[in-house]
Amino acid sequence: MKTRIHALAGGVGFLVILTFWTSTVISELFTSYETVAAVKQWILYGMIILIPALAIAGGSGMAMGRCGASKIKPYCDGTHHESGWKD
Ligand code: FES
Repeated sequence: MKTRIHALAGGVGFLVILTFWTSTVISELFTSYETVAAVKQWILYGMIILIPALAIAGGSGMAMGRCGASKIKPYCDGTHHESGWKD
């Protein structure tokens, strides 16, 4: 479950940042100053989605890989399945 939450939150964060970046580049290259200002304003509103998504991704990421047996700490490599460790 943590893995899915982490992946979903990370995916949402990535898409929001990608949207910020592409909308900024397109508006600054091809549109008026007013449109650029509007895009910047919407990016600010987008922080309402981005900040919680990154917090959830960070929190769920920290919750994963806690068994101590992973060979790629702090990340989970699936070794916990062999040891029977449960969180
Ligand atoms: S939680 Fe430690 S290997 Fe998966």
